[in-house]
Amino acid sequence: MWNVEEFTESAGITVEELSAYVAESLRGEVPVLRRTPPRELADRLGLRDLIVKGGMTPESYRVFLRGFLAEGTRLHHPAFLAHQTATPDFPAALADFVHGVINNPMNIYEMGASAATVEFEVLRWMLEKVGFPAGGGVLTHGGSLANLTALLAARARAVPEAWDEGVPGDLVILASPSAHYSISRAASILGLGQRAVVPLETDELGRIDPSRLPDISGRRVMALVAAACATGTGLYDDLRAIGEWCREHGVWFHVDGAHGASALLSDRHAHLLDGLGLADSVIWDAHKMLRTSALAAAVLVRREGDLDAAFKQEASYLFYGDQGFDQIVRTVECTKAELGLKVFLNLAWRGERGLGEYVASRYDTAHRFWELARERPGFTLPYEPESNIVCFRYGDGDQAAIRERLMSDGTFYLTSTELAGVRHLRITVMAPATDDATLTALLDEIEALSG
Ligand SMILES: Cc1ncc(COP(=O)(O)O)c(C=O)c1O
Repeated sequence: MWNVEEFTESAGITVEELSAYVAESLRGEVPVLRRTPPRELADRLGLRDLIVKGGMTPESYRVFLRGFLAEGTRLHHPAFLAHQTATPDFPAALADFVHGVINNPMNIYEMGASAATVEFEVLRWMLEKVGFPAGGGVLTHGGSLANLTALLAARARAVPEAWDEGVPGDLVILASPSAHYSISRAASILGLGQRAVVPLETDELGRIDPSRLPDISGRRVMALVAAACATGTGLYDDLRAIGEWCREHGVWFHVDGAHGASALLSDRHAHLLDGLGLADSVIWDAHKMLRTSALAAAVLVRREGDLDAAFKQEASYLFYGDQGFDQIVRTVECTKAELGLKVFLNLAWRGERGLGEYVASRYDTAHRFWELARERPGFTLPYEPESNIVCFRYGDGDQAAIRERLMSDGTFYLTSTELAGVRHLRITVMAPATDDATLTALLDEIEALSG
């Protein structure tokens, strides 16, 4: 039974606790993350008893929630500089709450007409932004699934019979070795195997070199994949030059814009995506730079029919008659959350302009880090950042050990990656609260720890 009074009280507690949590995170006076071992944490939160005995009340829920939040990772914290996961804005959080209550899995229209319609309109807006006015799209649970879906559409174009007959042995995908791992995973999932992923020539930073694209005569190329921007470095491939080559050679051009497509909303940064309109497919994650919670990723194709061709299935309880408004024919998922609502509410609250200003400010702050670090001896910065991702080294020592020390007391949370075989520290500026003072404190701390 749904007890309305208990729900109202518990929802109120949730809002109070989350508001306090976000405010505390924004001030940055608490650790950005904690790494209590799972057994100890389970005891501290009383999980075992709650699972077996139940009986949670609004009061005990408050205690649990407070402990749960305190032991997690704070993405609103200025020192959160790690993964490309959105610092959620509250309109999107409201959408998650609404979804949790109404649960309209709208992959078939009749299971949620309003949620499905919101998704259609969000997609229409995204399609216009990427330059596919006659295109089609679908929202899916994450960029990895979005890449898989786009490549499935590319496979259907290259080998329409593959769905029934399987994949011919000579089909290849061209991609930079630094492409997100979901691309090579998709190759294996699609039945091509790793051997079908042909590495493209790149510069020393992993950007595809358009002057050294391969001779493809005699080869069956399913797609070429470019990054906008690359996960490791945050650098954009030259989409125009690569796109023109793909047009000339009749190759499906897929752009992985999971992280960087949101720069389309910033007048000062949209040029980084010049040539995007030449693509056959693009993916764009809202749960990275459009500030929704995980997950909400768009698969966008230039020709609507290409997405419809990606999947063919028989299930008489779902697929029959005119599927006109049913997104289920375009996704791996059968049941799907109301992903469009969270993108929509962020747009409805902030507008394109507000989200564009957010993207621009995070890209600018990352650039500022680069400027500040360059002025200090001991820091090496292999490239000028184009997005909100920056790689760097301090000294010649073990960079992973520096990261470990920064994280051990929850002062800063950052990641690391290899560039040309050398491990670098890596920051991604996601949180709106990260400012010059945060960056200066990080640089000071790295010097102090290594001194
Ligand atoms: C360029 C790129 N593509 C795809 C993905 C995968 O997205 P997801 O984590 O939503 O599956 C990422 C994740 O960081 C990414 O950076």
